[in-house]
Amino acid sequence: MLTHCSDAVAYGLLLLSSFQAASADAPLQVQTSSGSLTGFINCTAPSVRQFLGVPFALPPTGKLRFEPPVKVTDNGPLQVKAFKPSCMQSVSGPVNTSDPNTDVYAIMPQFGINGGISEDCLYLNVYAPLNPTTPSLPVIVWPVPLFQIYGGGFTNGGANVLYQIPDKWVQRTQGHVVVTMNYRLGVFGYPSAPGQMKNVGLMDQRMVVEWVRDNIAAFGGDPARISLMGQSAGSASVNFYAYSYVDDPIVAGFIGHSGAASILTSTDASGSNFNTLADSVGCGKLSAAAELQCMQNVDAAKLQAAAESNRSRSFFPYADNITAPANPADRLAKGLVAKKPFLMGNTDNEGGGLSTIGGMTPEARRFGLSGLACPVIDEANQRFQHGYVTYRYLYAGNFSNISPLPWIGACHSCDLPLAFGTHYEYDNTHTGLKSTDLEWGTSFAMEGMLKSPTQTGSVAAHCVDVNMQVSGSRSPPTRTKVRGIRITPGRNTTRTRQALR
Ligand SMILES: *[C@@H]1O[C@H](CO)[C@@H](O)[C@H](O)[C@H]1NC(C)=O
Ligand SMILES: *[C@@H]1O[C@H](CO)[C@@H](O)[C@H](O)[C@H]1NC(C)=O
Ligand SMILES: *[C@@H]1O[C@H](CO)[C@@H](O)[C@H](O)[C@H]1NC(C)=O
Ligand SMILES: *[C@@H]1O[C@H](CO)[C@@H](O)[C@H](O)[C@H]1NC(C)=O
Ligand SMILES: *[C@@H]1O[C@H](CO)[C@@H](O)[C@H](O)[C@H]1NC(C)=O
Ligand SMILES: *[C@@H]1O[C@H](CO)[C@@H](O)[C@H](O)[C@H]1NC(C)=O
Repeated sequence: MLTHCSDAVAYGLLLLSSFQAASADAPLQVQTSSGSLTGFINCTAPSVRQFLGVPFALPPTGKLRFEPPVKVTDNGPLQVKAFKPSCMQSVSGPVNTSDPNTDVYAIMPQFGINGGISEDCLYLNVYAPLNPTTPSLPVIVWPVPLFQIYGGGFTNGGANVLYQIPDKWVQRTQGHVVVTMNYRLGVFGYPSAPGQMKNVGLMDQRMVVEWVRDNIAAFGGDPARISLMGQSAGSASVNFYAYSYVDDPIVAGFIGHSGAASILTSTDASGSNFNTLADSVGCGKLSAAAELQCMQNVDAAKLQAAAESNRSRSFFPYADNITAPANPADRLAKGLVAKKPFLMGNTDNEGGGLSTIGGMTPEARRFGLSGLACPVIDEANQRFQHGYVTYRYLYAGNFSNISPLPWIGACHSCDLPLAFGTHYEYDNTHTGLKSTDLEWGTSFAMEGMLKSPTQTGSVAAHCVDVNMQVSGSRSPPTRTKVRGIRITPGRNTTRTRQALR
């Protein structure tokens, strides 16, 4: 399969060897703390070195289930050429497109995981340019590592999601490295077990940041210019992270799409959800230690099914004030937050993602505002009031031609295909419609915005000429001095493309 790309590899080798004599041998072989990795180049992105399925922690199974991740040591030579499964989560069945109660994402499978699930899921993926944009001084002006934490309410998601695969973005810019990862979800990540109130899924994320710090230089990335970026629950995670690693954030900046620290936390201090779940799988009526041990021995699929079967039970990060703060506003007031720039924002119609294919309801609209938009807006405003560098954007793209539901507009997550330049993956078999210059131009602008904080230290400079109006902000809760950016569909996309090349 890769033989078609061997020419590209050889060509890359020649280019690299002209200015990187010391490591001219093998851009696809990288020595890391996880072992000596051999990656590959996919013909569909011929200038991107991909390292997929790199272990960063031991499999969190058996005695390691519900426990903080344990870093892997050198695994020796590893072929890292395929995604590993996503972490345990609910996997949806067949979709009934005539049922108006069908969830909107069910008919947008590009947002869903591929490749199955497994409890053994703690792997990351690195996408690095083959021909970095800095041929004369490659060691000084390194590409910018950017780093994505997916969303999914802490119960769903993974790195193998079509709309969020960054290979084409890296292919286009050759100017940054992207790392994606899996982290534990649901009861496996946030068990809130009595005596074990640890958010181990959030700890997985931190372990990946440490891995990036220790290893990214070997891929051509600059460890001093890492941005931590997430969407939805991933954005809440990025928020949590800023409050949790105040003195040693490692990263140079934060990016959050449509999620804040307040959106999903649990205060189930007694562990009642864990206890009722334990009851249902035969681990009830035991001491806390015996219950935990019993639960570590339950088959993973059985545990997942039992957790899903009771909708009034949820497993979200517990507000332990260690990895998830109970009171972000208080922390901001006291300066207990990493002092790094934060770019955060929302989509204009978050509620569209909380709807069913039957259409937008007033409840969905309201919850989109109160549950997703306002927490981000509040966080941004409070950060600004306390003097932390903060940028805010509003994504208002409405691309009916590449959306199965014309009314949905800029729904929750609908910015991701533009952010990753993957909008063309829309399945147009029914409509025959494709991405146009408008989508490409807006996408390039959005990508430029996301890369800019660590490239230039300023979002605004990058946005002036490209259809993203640097303005005050929109509507009442946002009319403050937060530096706002609106991303609206561009008119002259030729100019947009040129500006962001
Ligand atoms: C290469 O990329 C295409 C899509 O761009 C994907 O379908 C295919 O699975 C990838 N191949 C490998 C080996 O990852
Ligand atoms: C799909 O949904 C429609 C409308 O609710 C219903 O009439 C039909 O029986 C459903 N089909 C299946 C296979 O469940
Ligand atoms: C469902 O979960 C809730 C919350 O933990 C619990 O009160 C209830 O008893 C559970 N129901 C069943 C049938 O287990
Ligand atoms: C976290 O801090 C809040 C005050 O900000 C406090 O009310 C809460 O009890 C603390 N929670 C834990 C688990 O310590
Ligand atoms: C998006 O555009 C379509 C027309 O293509 C329109 O019907 C719809 O109301 C718009 N949606 C939003 C949320 O603006
Ligand atoms: C769009 O911008 C390009 C580059 O700045 C310019 O050459 C072209 O004339 C513009 N097109 C329109 C319709 O304004």
